[in-house]
Amino acid sequence: MRATQIGLASRPTENLTADDFEILDVELPSLTEGTVLVKNISMQLTSVMADLMRGEELPMPPYTEGQPLWGAAVGVVEQSKSHLFTPGDMVQSMNGWRTHFVAREDELFSVSANQFPRPEVLLCQGPTAYHGMVDIAEVGSGDTVFVTGAAGGVGSLAGQIARKRGAQRVVGTAGSDAKVAWLVDELGFDAAFNYKNPGIDEWLTSQFPHGFSVFFDTVGGSQFEMAVRHAGQDARFALCGTLSEQFAKDGSDPRPRFDIMTGIRKQLKILAFSTYHTPEQIQAWTTHYAQWLAEGEFRFPHTTVRGGLSAAPEGLISLTQSRHRGNVIVELN
Ligand SMILES: NC(=O)c1ccc[n+]([C@@H]2O[C@H](COP(=O)([O-])OP(=O)(O)OC[C@H]3O[C@@H](n4cnc5c(N)ncnc54)[C@H](OP(=O)(O)O)[C@@H]3O)[C@@H](O)[C@H]2O)c1
Repeated sequence: MRATQIGLASRPTENLTADDFEILDVELPSLTEGTVLVKNISMQLTSVMADLMRGEELPMPPYTEGQPLWGAAVGVVEQSKSHLFTPGDMVQSMNGWRTHFVAREDELFSVSANQFPRPEVLLCQGPTAYHGMVDIAEVGSGDTVFVTGAAGGVGSLAGQIARKRGAQRVVGTAGSDAKVAWLVDELGFDAAFNYKNPGIDEWLTSQFPHGFSVFFDTVGGSQFEMAVRHAGQDARFALCGTLSEQFAKDGSDPRPRFDIMTGIRKQLKILAFSTYHTPEQIQAWTTHYAQWLAEGEFRFPHTTVRGGLSAAPEGLISLTQSRHRGNVIVELN
């Protein structure tokens, strides 16, 4: 059985191009006891994949030149030599960027058709958004919340999670007027601001006259510095990502400087976190997510890339050009 994979042709140093990807045609190994053959249906694209291609230092190992890329995917079992899976079962894996693959049963998560309306809703940054908002920021009733990168995969879920946990006010920043409108009109944010426009300082003052209580940061840079100025007393900062550093490679939004005296005066709780997708984190997220989706008050914020596996490289390039919103899914069928 042959499979098509997309691999890393060469390490980009700055912006991704189509030449950084290569198509690999491989023969899959025969099934042995405890393994299954899976046909992928959908895969996820995330901005961190660009960093893994560049080989940057991250909590996980980078992609390897000449080898297939990897990432979250959902698929259907086509053949099985496992007692745990039978043909037709839906599974989630980290074996994206390929049409088919053979894997050990312990590398796969079963996807319950009863729990979720469509398996691809699992291809999202929920475990990170949930862990950051709930375990790290401990968001709860009455909190006032500021989310940066709010129209991204993590941010678009983090804001909704804060609302579900009883936050009184949830606002965010995004990089276009269309994304700002989407946050307010479709995802239930109370307000949002296009950070590319002047006036973010005044806007934050109007949103939080007494400062906010929770900051969920996926951007860093000048927006982090702004957040320190607009934080309320004892505000909790959940530091998740550095999109400005990842994307603004020209140094136009340099690493933030932390005003320590303001932090001391306000007694800010600055908590940087990394999500390791432990079974407990996945379970906590999926249980709440399934319930919230079923209740109909929670959106799976996403962009769908069509055209099969060959459309995935361009989909990732578009993601790094800020042309998508929410979580980005490639339909592989
Ligand atoms: N700590 C953890 O465990 C963990 C886990 C997963 C991800 N992360 C990190 O969390 C961050 C968000 O991840 P994600 O998957 O949600 O990202 P994403 O959706 O893939 O981010 C893409 C978005 O970034 C925004 N962006 C681009 N350049 C920007 C700039 N200069 N300033 C501000 N925003 C910019 C764009 O939106 P606009 O058009 O709105 O600017 C773009 O659409 C990343 O830094 C990621 O590495 C951390």
